[in-house]
Amino acid sequence: MEAKIKVTEWPERDETDIEAVVAILRSGKWGSPDLGGAIKTFDEEFAAYNGSRFAASVVNGSVALRVALLALGVKPGDEVIVPPYTFFATASIVAETNCVPVFADIEPGTYNLDPVAVEAAITPRTRAIIPVHFAGAAANMEAFQRLAARHGLVVIEDACHGHGGEYRGRKLGSLADAGCFSFQSSKNMTSGEGGAVITDREDAFDMVNSLRNCGRVKGGQWYEHHHLGCNYRITQLQAALLSAQLKRLEGQTRRRHDNGLYLDSLIEKVEGMRPMDPVPGQNLHPRHIYMFRYNPGACGGTSKVEFARRLAEKGVPCFRGYPEPLYRQPVFRNSSFLSYDQARRVDYTRVHCPVAEKACHEEAVWIYQNFLLGSREDMEAAAAAVGSVAKALREEAARKK
Ligand SMILES: Cc1ncc(COP(=O)(O)O)c(C=O)c1O
Repeated sequence: MEAKIKVTEWPERDETDIEAVVAILRSGKWGSPDLGGAIKTFDEEFAAYNGSRFAASVVNGSVALRVALLALGVKPGDEVIVPPYTFFATASIVAETNCVPVFADIEPGTYNLDPVAVEAAITPRTRAIIPVHFAGAAANMEAFQRLAARHGLVVIEDACHGHGGEYRGRKLGSLADAGCFSFQSSKNMTSGEGGAVITDREDAFDMVNSLRNCGRVKGGQWYEHHHLGCNYRITQLQAALLSAQLKRLEGQTRRRHDNGLYLDSLIEKVEGMRPMDPVPGQNLHPRHIYMFRYNPGACGGTSKVEFARRLAEKGVPCFRGYPEPLYRQPVFRNSSFLSYDQARRVDYTRVHCPVAEKACHEEAVWIYQNFLLGSREDMEAAAAAVGSVAKALREEAARKK
């Protein structure tokens, strides 16, 4: 008899979240053009939590990346290096900021941006690198900082999978010029929608503050607009909810970290499966996605899509992940957003990142983060299900021979 697999409901919530939001509802002060009240409180708490000087909440993670790029001086037409194995927004927001996303391949052990590929992609037009801490695994920030120093670039961490994670005791998102977070509903910390930029740079913070508030500046008048900003402010309701959620983040991150390590040790023993490589120096892994690598050759040649479907049938909340690297998305293949001059330089139909393609087509299997909030017995049940699906696939293939 296989054990029943339990999945923790997401988001975790209790009366403290409800009371925080109800207090704002009762106050009648739901918005905040002055970025005060619960917004100011959350921004300060989030900065302190991350060991950063400043934090600025915004409407979502995509906008966080956009205002960070602008605040760090990236200009229209500049090239920005991004991974192809990430959510659309990491690359699309670069194009929305009138810059040119340039894809560099990922590393096979972590699926994070590969510094060697990044170096090869640098041109005189490159202005920024956006490493993603994919699934919560720390990207190689030391290598990117070295490249940035040598080539005069800025580095923005896409920490939308990184809440609470640590590299050598420092929070992911606090390791570069700016770090960007999403609080969208699947994320490790959520207010339904939302985002934030953290930074130690006062100049960048002042500009993010202006950009999220219609281009207003400190000491300026209400109808005085200095920069091409917009209303990217969150509501007081979201901010109050985020403060309540932030109190849980450390405990949740430690639970995911411990269960992730335990699940790795179990998956490692299953024929045809490999956990992702640990990142040396990462002392806390937030596991926004629990990933492992599937080998179709060890499971009778069955595709990973079919493997993931069979595993999901057993109650493991899993998914095959991205079907294609981002450069294969129609918007990049058509690349109509590029200017005539840019289109002569960048042709996404010719991009080929073999590691990202293998991750998409053959290898990567995802389990949703909330599963890792469960018990050790749940991890054992999931690993047993992985083993039993793999065995069944091998036996079916053998029978067909
Ligand atoms: C890696 C990554 N970057 C950026 C984003 C964009 O965040 P949002 O959906 O809040 O705009 C997401 C999430 O959806 C993401 O997963």
